[in-house]
Amino acid sequence: MRTPLIAGNWKLQPPTRAEARVLAAAVVSGTRGLAGREVVLAPPFVMLTTVADAVVDSLVRLAGQNLYWENSGAFTGEISGPMLVDTGCQHVLVGHSERRQIFGETDYAVAKKVGAADACGLGSILCVGETLEQRDSGDAMLVIEKQVRRGLVELTTEGLSRLVIAYEPVWAIGTGRTASPDQAQQVHAGIREIIREVASSEVAESMRILYGGSVKPGNIDELMACPDVDGALVGGASLQADDFLRIIHFQES
Ligand code: 13P
Repeated sequence: MRTPLIAGNWKLQPPTRAEARVLAAAVVSGTRGLAGREVVLAPPFVMLTTVADAVVDSLVRLAGQNLYWENSGAFTGEISGPMLVDTGCQHVLVGHSERRQIFGETDYAVAKKVGAADACGLGSILCVGETLEQRDSGDAMLVIEKQVRRGLVELTTEGLSRLVIAYEPVWAIGTGRTASPDQAQQVHAGIREIIREVASSEVAESMRILYGGSVKPGNIDELMACPDVDGALVGGASLQADDFLRIIHFQES
């Protein structure tokens, strides 16, 4: 059985550490006693220590939104895996479509980052997904397969067991337009098949594959009803404590 994982990607928000503290505290209090689900928050780097303090003694875990693959040196503006570990992170997002599209991150860079995260014990949440143009031309699965295969080349067998994949169709991010449960299920099952080929059936069956892209309280239940959807990577709705908590508590009422 795969434990569902709900992760909140705060992106470049909220504006202040005070707001981050309040939001994290609300998530902590709304998840007390939660069983059989994992919750992860990915705040901006400069808010990691604030959020780490707020989630002490809770089941909420921390993720970085990005990392660089070198551990130290003259790399102005970058953050390393060991720095994230030192700040209390267990996970890190890698290859988010905003990084790929806005910051020009290549499959090569994504693979190096996944490898570097693994080397310091961080579990990558590897993000993949097609653009609307690629979906409309029938290339979605081809694009995703390439991103998954190329993203894993630096990963050890042990690292594969820690890896989480997030399917985030670019056309669904921040648009209010979600993939239908059928569309999500089809891609998730395809990703699991790729993992079966790259690794093994055992690894494929135990790997969590999250859906991301306009996940809201109103659509989480049907998405989580898909057999291969093992959780969600939530952007906008993770900034509203009530919405995020409803998503975490999917299918409970
Ligand atoms: P939204 O939930 O705002 O669409 O963002 C999804 C996302 O990019 C999470 O990483």
